[in-house]
Amino acid sequence: MSDSPLLLRRSRRVRQHAGLRRLVRASQVTPDDLIMPLFVKEEGPREPIPSLPGQFRLPLVDLPREAEHLALLGIPAVALFPVIDPRLKTPGGEAALETEALVLRAMWALKAAVPEMVVVTDIALDPYTAHGHDGILTADGRDVDNDATVSVLAQMATLHAEAGVDVVAPSDMMDGRVGAIRLALESAGHTRTALMSYAAKFNSAFYGPFREAVGSASAAGTPGLDKATYQADPANRDAAVADALLDEEEGADILMVKPAGPYLDVLHSLRSATRLPLAAYQVSGEYAQLHAAAERGWLDLRRARDESLLAIKRAGADGILTYFARAFAEDFRSSGDSGVPHYSHGAGI
Ligand code: PBG
Repeated sequence: MSDSPLLLRRSRRVRQHAGLRRLVRASQVTPDDLIMPLFVKEEGPREPIPSLPGQFRLPLVDLPREAEHLALLGIPAVALFPVIDPRLKTPGGEAALETEALVLRAMWALKAAVPEMVVVTDIALDPYTAHGHDGILTADGRDVDNDATVSVLAQMATLHAEAGVDVVAPSDMMDGRVGAIRLALESAGHTRTALMSYAAKFNSAFYGPFREAVGSASAAGTPGLDKATYQADPANRDAAVADALLDEEEGADILMVKPAGPYLDVLHSLRSATRLPLAAYQVSGEYAQLHAAAERGWLDLRRARDESLLAIKRAGADGILTYFARAFAEDFRSSGDSGVPHYSHGAGI
């Protein structure tokens, strides 16, 4: 007789061996789940982005090679973010409606190399406006004019669909934009263009490095007007879910929560409120904080990365936009055919 207590339930039984852990594991991240955000510029050398280690502003000529590399790694999709010359920015963001806009030429360059790569483009005016807001300001400059902005977004989305973009992603949180974009696309015969809505996009401090990367930092400093008048309040989960469900009614195909890590509860709530596919955006600040801690030797970057992505998947995301996409997929591939990602190789047995 052993002196051990007779425990009917011992949770550790199924944790003892790698094989058992694999067998009972519910969530897994694979390259299939990932969308790689890419910053694109016209020309010149690729420029490292200091607050996003390992990320670059890529000139158009670098895109075919980048697309081939990502495709080889098994990453199905990229999200393109144009870095617009400040001299081309205007209060109304007119450059967004150019038929040969930088972001569209970037898409063509990618697709020429890898036609099957899914291309997602942001439908928002912030890269193009001189003040950095996501929309057109009212005459007195004290608010973003919702409805005037929405009609420009519908034109922009139609232009992108016409040019061959697979997924348009309105990211500005104006009211009614999903409905207006869907109607414009259908009316123009673009019945196959998918609409991934930034449906629950919070007014977050975690976008800091992104704004530096695309040079749209100024909006944070527009006196008396910040993005809190259109982006969701970080304090409100139910309101964010309600907002996302409106986007479903208006015709979105995929709903996104952004940022991801600090808003897993929202993702989880939305998962039970809709049958649509869900995406989550692990934003620039989430990436930057893991890198910063790892640089100081305070975190194991690879394990923290894999765990952060797994947590997003577990909370309900089908797809994840992440700056870690390339590095994750590289490591996933080199970890062999087992398909067992790094987080399963814990210390011990
Ligand atoms: C712009 C947009 C932002 C991000 C994606 N699209 C920034 C913002 O709303 O200011 C942020 C992404 C990131 O931080 O990685 N509409």
